[in-house]
Amino acid sequence: MVSKRIQDMPFSSIRKLTPFANQAKKEGKFVYHLNIGAPDVVTPKAFFQAIKEADLDVLSYPPSQGIPELLEENAKYFQKIGLNFTKDDLVITNGGSEALLFALLATTDAGDQVLTCEPFYTNYKTYFHEVGVTVTTFPTDVKEGFALPAREVIEKAITDKTKVLLISNPGNPTGAVYSKEEVRLLGDIAKDHDLFILADEVYREFIYDGKEFTSFASFEDLADRVIVLDSISKRFSACGARIGCTATKNKAMQEALVKLATGRLACPYLEQVGAVALYQLPDNYFDQVREEYTLRRNCIEAELAKIPGVVTSHSTGAFYIIADLPVEDAEDFARFMLTDFQDQGETVMMAPAGGFYQNTQVGKSQVRLAYVLEREKITRACQLIGLALEEYKKR
Ligand SMILES: Cc1ncc(COP(=O)(O)O)c(C=O)c1O
Repeated sequence: MVSKRIQDMPFSSIRKLTPFANQAKKEGKFVYHLNIGAPDVVTPKAFFQAIKEADLDVLSYPPSQGIPELLEENAKYFQKIGLNFTKDDLVITNGGSEALLFALLATTDAGDQVLTCEPFYTNYKTYFHEVGVTVTTFPTDVKEGFALPAREVIEKAITDKTKVLLISNPGNPTGAVYSKEEVRLLGDIAKDHDLFILADEVYREFIYDGKEFTSFASFEDLADRVIVLDSISKRFSACGARIGCTATKNKAMQEALVKLATGRLACPYLEQVGAVALYQLPDNYFDQVREEYTLRRNCIEAELAKIPGVVTSHSTGAFYIIADLPVEDAEDFARFMLTDFQDQGETVMMAPAGGFYQNTQVGKSQVRLAYVLEREKITRACQLIGLALEEYKKR
């Protein structure tokens, strides 16, 4: 019998409709994937080159904390962006996902509670279930660009069980970027209620419209309560490398994170070698990538605006946008697009946004779209959504 823990665990809403997409493909349909944040931007050649050049006789266990060269380069990267981490403050992890798992395990006991905003990255739910913590949320609204609500609203969600504030900034699934004042406000709340801050900043480089990024780790008075969760997946379009890290100035937490890393032995060696090369890329690498995503963001917003009844917020970070659709049940519509709709043999896969909410009813009419494809594909995919909505309404 499968454990109750896993039975109760919701399926990731990013992949929930995968069987329907697979069936659509089997039937010969072309599916545009706007459901998942897997960029099609080319992974820098330096990554593959470094792996090719690795000259090894035995592929043995690398150090649990990470290979020294990567710890060194990763620390340099943090210092370059003004964060005071050294290699002793880091643990290399299997993606940001393992960084999150380790940070939750290090800061909570079963039955504790995690505070986050509504909506939040749906895979957090997987880890809350695995670790045995509950979640408490404060609301943010598509019509207000998912900005933070007033302090009282956030504090109302805190109980005596709340141990941790977990925030993705820039936000997945919202595309919102918190201002320095907003990050400070969350920091003050965490201080007043003695919460650890798990700062999921994996989209740090993806910020548009000249907005500035503020890390929780940039405030000295918060240093002892912050664990930064990081990853090369999106930063260097290297999702398949599965390399991330934790970064903290809290010595006890660092020891706990190293202990967890030791328990799972190590992260893959060759991918760490590749990651070293990525961190050695010239600083202007991100300029071009940022420009490309700005164009894609502009494209998806303009195309969605053409569809009657669709409401979106302005996405200023990461590569996601929430679209409120003129349907009652966006999951049903998303499934319809895969099972019952096609135009010239093409359709779209989207992530129903209900799964990104604790109260799934709130996001019931919304989908999350990832603008990770080339502009022509985004344009066509939005056209298809518009056509499908017309057909769906006729049923
Ligand atoms: C907000 C956020 N955090 C963490 C992750 C984990 O990514 P990875 O495990 O590939 O580093 C993702 C992936 O989509 C994400 O969107």
